[in-house]
Amino acid sequence: MDKLIIRGGNRLSGKIPISGAKNAALTLIPCALLTEEPLTLRNLPRLADIDGFQHLMTQFGIATGIRGKRPEDFGRVVTFEANHITSTVAPYDLVRKMRASILVLGPMLARMGEAKVSLPGGCAIGNRPIDLHLKALEAIGGEIELAQGYVKATAPDGGLPGGEFDFPVVSVGATENAVMAAVLANGTSRFFNAAREPEIVDLCNLLVAMGAEIEGIGTSDLTIHGVRKLNGATYKVMPDRIEAGSYACAAAITGGEVFLDGADARDMQSTNHALRNIGVEVTEEKNGIRIAANGPLKATNLSTAPFPGLATDMQAQLMSLLCKAEGTSVLKETIFENRYMHVPELARMGADIETEGRTAIVKGPVGLTGAEVMATDLRASMSLIIAALAAEGETQVRRIYHLDRGYERLEEKLQLVGADIERVDD
Ligand code: EPZ
Repeated sequence: MDKLIIRGGNRLSGKIPISGAKNAALTLIPCALLTEEPLTLRNLPRLADIDGFQHLMTQFGIATGIRGKRPEDFGRVVTFEANHITSTVAPYDLVRKMRASILVLGPMLARMGEAKVSLPGGCAIGNRPIDLHLKALEAIGGEIELAQGYVKATAPDGGLPGGEFDFPVVSVGATENAVMAAVLANGTSRFFNAAREPEIVDLCNLLVAMGAEIEGIGTSDLTIHGVRKLNGATYKVMPDRIEAGSYACAAAITGGEVFLDGADARDMQSTNHALRNIGVEVTEEKNGIRIAANGPLKATNLSTAPFPGLATDMQAQLMSLLCKAEGTSVLKETIFENRYMHVPELARMGADIETEGRTAIVKGPVGLTGAEVMATDLRASMSLIIAALAAEGETQVRRIYHLDRGYERLEEKLQLVGADIERVDD
């Protein structure tokens, strides 16, 4: 198993290429199920989760052709062809490795009239229920049955009629499943309090490019007029706003200046606002965002919220940055019940953080020192890397398979801007 060794203290400067968004790719890939024609996705990040999803798609009999660019490039082009689906079952041994597999439920149900997907189970940050996915699919005419750890969904003869659903809680995944099912329904569907994350906008833009009829894209009130069939398309995955925000924190904690090449500031208003409040200079340019931390960092209170609020996926990374800010910062994690797994590990590096339920109190500035730490979940792992970049001495981060799920060639990108970081066999 690999580990990363980081020697802190280098000021990061230069350009970091931002990859395609993991959380957009994971909902764009299952759209291939919605058409018999080829779906080509460009700018797909090279990530373990994307490989896992591709493997799952081949389980359904879908042909995938990878036309990667040169090995030293970032991202790749993949074509999915679902003209002959041989299985409608997403098996436990694949779903348990990648919970986003649940996103095949809606499109498979819409295309084939049936789908059987293993329940994804929880993960480090919470028990991650899927009740809203199931309620939304029932609301548009799906019949749902839970048995032996699987969800079995069937559509009435003649296909899903369509319907209405008012989400009691904003859910990214449940909105994605509902939208991917509704586009092929016989009638019109309406979703209220739908998630508005940029990844959902990317999904809707792809579906429209395939011939879907969707109104209210980008708002929490979506109206979808089902169509009889969808065509193939070629589509470029949006840039990863969480990867970009993560590297912004990395640059800022080292007092550096980095250009996030390809980042789209429109997706990052809340993160950029938080960074500016902390005292980081954030300049939105034509092809990316320039981050510069010349002055002192200031303590700032932050609370995560559904888009356009501050992304929960940015909480851990900003917490690391706030360890170096002057004063006391209060963070509130409103989305997941257990998303402070990074706190004990940061404490081992000298951080002064107290957690009480969903609130974390961060006191700074503290002198961070290198230590041997353990990654627990994707974004927690990144918060340890960020702290290590500013820590005195050497940090070893183990279980970095968590990182490989969400950050394409992390150490190469950080080496590009002067970080002293290397991947070694553990
Ligand atoms: C997506 O997860 C992202 N994953 C997560 O990113 C992200 O943290 C999350 O959205 C919130 O933005 C992908 O896109 C693959 P939710 P998802 O449904 O869809 C509750 C990362 O680090 N809920 O919006 O699973 C749920 O428990 C990952 O890249 C229900 O109660 O999140 C949570 O408290 C981590 N019932 C809240 O809603 C349901 O049926 C938001 O979850 C579904 C969710």
